[in-house]
Amino acid sequence: MSGLFAHKLLTTATTLMTVAGIGALPIAALVLQPTAANALENGLARTPPMGFNNWNTTACDSTFNETTIRGIADSFISLGLKDVGYNYVNIDDCWAEPARDSSGNLVPHHTRFPSGIKALADYVHSKGLKFGIYTSAGTKTCNGANGFPGSLNNEQRDANLFASWGVDYLKYDNCNNQDIDAQQRYTAMRDALAATGRPIVFSICEWGRADPKVWTWGANVGNLWRTTGDISDNWSSMISRVHTNDDLAQYAGPGHWNDPDMLEVGNGGMTAAEYRTHFSLWAMMAAPLLIGSDIRSVSTADLGILKNTDIIALDQDSLGRQATIVSSSGGLVVYNKVLANGDRAVALLNENASTATVSTTASALGLSGSSSYTLKDLWTKTTRTTTGTISASVPAHSTVVYRVSRIAVEAEATGNTLGGTAAATACATCSGGAKVRFIGNAAANAVTINVSAPSAGTRTLTIDYLVSGTRSFFISVNGGAATEVSATGTSWSAPASKTVTVTLNAGTNTIRFGNPNAYAPDLDRITL
Ligand code: GLA
Repeated sequence: MSGLFAHKLLTTATTLMTVAGIGALPIAALVLQPTAANALENGLARTPPMGFNNWNTTACDSTFNETTIRGIADSFISLGLKDVGYNYVNIDDCWAEPARDSSGNLVPHHTRFPSGIKALADYVHSKGLKFGIYTSAGTKTCNGANGFPGSLNNEQRDANLFASWGVDYLKYDNCNNQDIDAQQRYTAMRDALAATGRPIVFSICEWGRADPKVWTWGANVGNLWRTTGDISDNWSSMISRVHTNDDLAQYAGPGHWNDPDMLEVGNGGMTAAEYRTHFSLWAMMAAPLLIGSDIRSVSTADLGILKNTDIIALDQDSLGRQATIVSSSGGLVVYNKVLANGDRAVALLNENASTATVSTTASALGLSGSSSYTLKDLWTKTTRTTTGTISASVPAHSTVVYRVSRIAVEAEATGNTLGGTAAATACATCSGGAKVRFIGNAAANAVTINVSAPSAGTRTLTIDYLVSGTRSFFISVNGGAATEVSATGTSWSAPASKTVTVTLNAGTNTIRFGNPNAYAPDLDRITL
């Protein structure tokens, strides 16, 4: 064991998994789990941070001052940005005087912030918002010939000052770092922030420079880490940041996120389509959504992009998965993001200068086994259904984003196991034109359906069945005890439905419908 982090082997209990057609296989799972001596466990940023940072709009120009930042906080409320989840109002470089005071403390710039940073943080808090600040893990920050003082070797002093001001978020930059090891510098500030006792989101701004790469150690040190150099307000800069993040999905999760830099939406350098692509892909990447434009004067159209709650919901999904690439060829890229309720978000990106068709399938997204799926276009808000093909004509530099929901698994679907007498038969009134009959009257006469769940937990299972009178299914999940579900219907050709709650494991689950004692209803389909 060496370095900051030790790893230990955890052997989970031997699990018996039943694989259809193979029987019971003992599988011993070995899990490698990082156990840093002082892992970051601040409980913050369970979903990617949302808010504002002034850098992309003001840099260090004279408009960067307390009047502007107060106005931004006001606009969070008046424009409804707080209502859709934006809550951090963060200030960037150039907030300080070039020199520390005689006791060694950082000093707010006397003309930009004459009321002081504490007063500004108090104002932001009075709006029910949170306040963030910036410094560098170096002797000076990044800006200007002289730069402003950095926090290297002043970590605890500065962390204490930030905490006393009511800071909720620290962006910690990488300039003037004296070639000191990055993990060492960022870990020093992590520990200093923790020692203040104040919950402070820790944003590592190291740009993915040092080896080992920040994404391999960032989760133990910060809540998010920049993976790239600075974004600019143009298409090629924006899209290249996306591609740097393409292979980093495994490092993201609740409390620890890849950061491809702040948003440019509203700054004027890209078309509306390009800004929609920018916002869509940041949400697909589970990236922080830090608005970088002056929202006090942003256009209604750009505000509409920033307030698209369907897209925001992808970013803020509680499962915290970053999208992965399904296919990429000739500038046509398909991204897939697994969502907590089992849905998928799919982004069809066209990087080319002319319209192209971008296609994938539900099964390529890991959503097989259903006869139909709902596709909700999260920009046009239209909904349609598909039997599996997902395809759109995508204009230049645009991205079509669908939320894909599995509608149902047909009882007769290939892949289900029909035991004993259970058999598919045509049924004109049934979904998919067929149902399964002769279920029950002996344990073997059962239908077993595999379903996959992205996370463990309870789900609502809707059962579409046909029966004349009342009969029962005995439903067993993953080989567990069967629950009797009584079902009443009017005829063998009129589907009826019933919902039950089932508890699923993450991954593949088997749901078995039978009845050892008597015949069950016919089964049309199930929906989760
Ligand atoms: C670096 C950072 C930017 C910004 C500037 C401020 O370039 O990467 O995001 O904070 O410094 O000087």
